[in-house]
Amino acid sequence: MSLLAETQSIVKQFEFTDDDVNKSVREFLRQMDEGLEKDGTSLSQIPTYVTGVPTGQEKGLYMAVDLGGTNFRVCSVKLNGDTTFNITSDKVAVPKELMVAEKAEDLFAFLALQIKKFLEKHHGDHFEAHIRRRMTVSSPDGYRDEHAFRMGFTFSFPVQQVGINKGTLIRWTKGFDIPDAVGKDVCALLQTEIDKLHLPVKVAALVNDTVGTLMAHSYGAPGSHGAVLGAIFGTGTNGAYLEKLSNLKKPLVGEYDSSTGNMVINIEWGSFDNQLNVLPNTPWDVALDKETPNPGIQMYEKRVSGMFLGELLRLVINDLMKNPKVSLFRDENSSTNDRRSTTDIAETSGIWRPWGIDTSILSHAAGDHTPKLSVLRDTLQETLQISAPAYEDAQAFKAIAEAIGRRAARLAAVAIGAVVLKSGRLSDPCHANDPVDVGVDGSLVENYPYFEDMIYEALRVIDGIGEEGAKRIRIGLAQDGSGVGAALIALVAAGMEKNAPPAEILGELRTEAKATVATTAVSDESDKVEAPQTA
Ligand code: BGC
Repeated sequence: MSLLAETQSIVKQFEFTDDDVNKSVREFLRQMDEGLEKDGTSLSQIPTYVTGVPTGQEKGLYMAVDLGGTNFRVCSVKLNGDTTFNITSDKVAVPKELMVAEKAEDLFAFLALQIKKFLEKHHGDHFEAHIRRRMTVSSPDGYRDEHAFRMGFTFSFPVQQVGINKGTLIRWTKGFDIPDAVGKDVCALLQTEIDKLHLPVKVAALVNDTVGTLMAHSYGAPGSHGAVLGAIFGTGTNGAYLEKLSNLKKPLVGEYDSSTGNMVINIEWGSFDNQLNVLPNTPWDVALDKETPNPGIQMYEKRVSGMFLGELLRLVINDLMKNPKVSLFRDENSSTNDRRSTTDIAETSGIWRPWGIDTSILSHAAGDHTPKLSVLRDTLQETLQISAPAYEDAQAFKAIAEAIGRRAARLAAVAIGAVVLKSGRLSDPCHANDPVDVGVDGSLVENYPYFEDMIYEALRVIDGIGEEGAKRIRIGLAQDGSGVGAALIALVAAGMEKNAPPAEILGELRTEAKATVATTAVSDESDKVEAPQTA
C-alpha cells in the first residue's frame, strides 16, 4: 500500500461526521442534566456560588492569581466601571518537580512566595504601609482584615466548591499529581501559606478559568446580555455557563445570593463521556489514554486539548513509520528524496519520546500552504531533528495532523453547541436576533489556523442551531479571563462577606492602590485594555 493510501485510511479513522456531531450533542445535553441532579457523574456540573454575570460597570482594585497548567500568574486589576480595565501582571513557570511534589505545602508555598514578590515589586507602597501597620497594631495577625487585598484564585482543576472561596480538589489533571492535595480545600492551602508570609491578602474567591472567562467576556461585551458560555481550549478544555437555580437539583451547601435565580456552573467537560458512549476511539486514543496518569478519565479532553494532540500525532506517526508496507521519513536513496538527500531522524528527536511532540506543530502543519510544504519541512527539521524530510513525508504528516485538529474542532463544537442549545437563547423571543456571545480562550483557539472556522462548520449542522442559529453565535476571544474574571468574582465575593470592609477603609485602600496602579499603568500602557466592541 502506498504512503498516500495508508495516510488516507488513517485520516478516515479520525473523521467525525455530521451524524456523530448530532448524536454527541444529544448525549452531552443528557449528561449535563444528569450532572445537575447528582454527584459522581461524568460531567461534574459544579455549582460555583457565583450567581450572576457582570454588566461592565463594576469598579475597584483587586488581585488575581492563576494556576492553570504550565505557569503561575499574579496580577492586580483595576476595573474602571466602563467595560475597560488596567492590569499589571507577572508570570513564572511552575517548576516541574512541584507539579508532582510530595506535599501540597511545597507547591502552595511557592505560589505564596510569588505573590509576595509581586506585591513588593508593583505595590510597594501598600506593602510597606501594611508592614508599618503590623508593627503598630497588636492584633494576632498583625493587620486588620479590612486592609487586605481581596484576591480571586483561578485554580483550573476540578474542585468541589462548597462556597465562593472554599472548595476541595477532586482530582488533578494536565500532568499535575500531588495526591496529598486531593480532598483538601485549595483556598485554605493557599491562605495558610500567604499568612505564613504575613501578606495583606485574602483569598476571597475560588475561580475556575472558564468561570473567569465567562465573567470577563460579559464585562467586556456590553449590550450582549451576558455571554452564555466561557470556554477554554488550551492545555486543557472546559466550559462554564449560567444555569437556572431551579434546574439545579443537587443540594447546595454554601451560602449564595438567590435573588438572580441563576448560578454559574463549571461543567468540567474534559470528562464528558468517560464511558465512551459517543466519543470516537481510535487505536491511538486507546494507546494515549494508557500513557496518562489518569486512564479512563478526561476522555473528551484527551481528544480535544493542547496537552494531548501532539502526543496523539506522535503515536500515529510512529505506527506509520513502523509499517513495513510504506516508507515514511525513510528513503531508498537520495534519488527518491526531492531534497536530493536521505531523511534521517536524530536519536534525540522528540518523535521517539512520549510527549516529545509539542501540539504547536499541528498549527504549523495546518498553516503551511506553500506548494512544496517547505515551511513545515523546515519546522520538522528544526523542532524534531528530522533532516531532509521529503515532500511526500510532509504531506502525510500534514494530512494526519489536520485530521486530528479537525476532529478536535468538531468535538469542541459539540460542547459549544450543546451549551448554546441548553441556554435556550436561540429560541427566546426576548432575545430574538440578538447575538449569542461565547467567550473563548486558550492556545488552540488562539493559534490553530481555522479552528474557529471548523467549529462554525460543525455548529451549522447541529439540529436546533442550523445555518441561521450559527450566524447568531458570536465566538470571541475573552479578555483575560484569569485576571479580570477572577478580579470580578473577588468583587462579588467581597460584597457577600458578612464583615465586609467598611466603605471608608476600602476608600483608603483604593486611594493608596490607585496611586500605585497609576504608576504601573504608565510604565506599561499596553496593559490598558479596551474591551472589544464586536459587531
Ligand atoms: C480542568 C478544568 C480547566 C480546564 C482548562 C481541565 O483539565 O479540569 O478545571 O478549566 O482544564 O484549563
